Amino acid sequence: MSVPSTPKWYPLASQAGCELWLCQPVTIEGAVSGNKIAKLRYPLLNAQASGCRGIATFGGAFSNHLLATAAACEQQGLQSLGFVRTDRLDPDNPTLRRCHRFGMSLIALSRADYRRRHDPDWLAVLQQRNPGWHWVPEGGTSSSGVAGVREWALAQSPQGAVTHLVTATGSGGTLAGLALGHPQLNMLGMAVVKDDSLPQRIRQLCEGQANWHLSMASVGPGYGRFTREHLSLCLDIRQQIGVSLEPIYTGKALFGLLELINQGHFKPGSRIGFVHTGGLQGLDGLHYRGLIDSAQWQALTAI
Ligand SMILES: Cc1ncc(COP(=O)(O)O)c(C=O)c1O
Repeated sequence: MSVPSTPKWYPLASQAGCELWLCQPVTIEGAVSGNKIAKLRYPLLNAQASGCRGIATFGGAFSNHLLATAAACEQQGLQSLGFVRTDRLDPDNPTLRRCHRFGMSLIALSRADYRRRHDPDWLAVLQQRNPGWHWVPEGGTSSSGVAGVREWALAQSPQGAVTHLVTATGSGGTLAGLALGHPQLNMLGMAVVKDDSLPQRIRQLCEGQANWHLSMASVGPGYGRFTREHLSLCLDIRQQIGVSLEPIYTGKALFGLLELINQGHFKPGSRIGFVHTGGLQGLDGLHYRGLIDSAQWQALTAI
């Protein structure tokens, strides 16, 4: 799976003397979209090179990363194993259903067990019980995930070089990869999760490079939750420029970014690229749980 190098740029209303662009850096290929294409590139190559049967990884019950891993493995002739944070594998959950269709074997982990996903001793036991897999952490964030994101070349908007790139930040790998790949630019991660360990993890992934900043302006009601304003922004952007966002990652992050711009956090003349990181499959899960209604779901998912 290669990282396409021709991003699509969409102008968004300029505010406070700043130019704002929405940058869609990769072809959205069905289930493997946005930052997932970049993050999975090297893990897939590593799994193949080391003769593993496939990739084992972790995610929530509506995880973009789980579905992307399932789809990418199937595409590459590899197997996939997903440890899911859930008490019960719901056969009607649209994300898990699609994972299953792509051949992913799914194992439910209680919240207590899932919390230990970074614990090396617990991981070693899991790996012993499930041999032959290439293990990828939650969200695809590892040095090999970052290496793929680093290859994205997103510095040039149609009007010239951007001054800032901005992305939704969950586990931090995308922000770290963008920072390493664009050392001349300012990177801003809009955190969508309350996690005190996040800055430290990004620091480690960035190998000492410091051209990034993490803003908490987007967190709002916490990970996986959103407000009416976040959803309205997604619907407005869809109507204005025909690009879909979802309110858990991209819509929420863009909302926070617009607030920062309006509050004067960027110098006039800044040219800001907001990176579209995909995740649209999550809209099906929001609809399934009744968190968006059918009209909103249709507006955001219509082709
Ligand atoms: C759609 C979307 N955007 C942004 C992110 C955040 O990326 P990262 O976990 O690398 O910070 C994710 C999670 O992987 C995601 O699914």
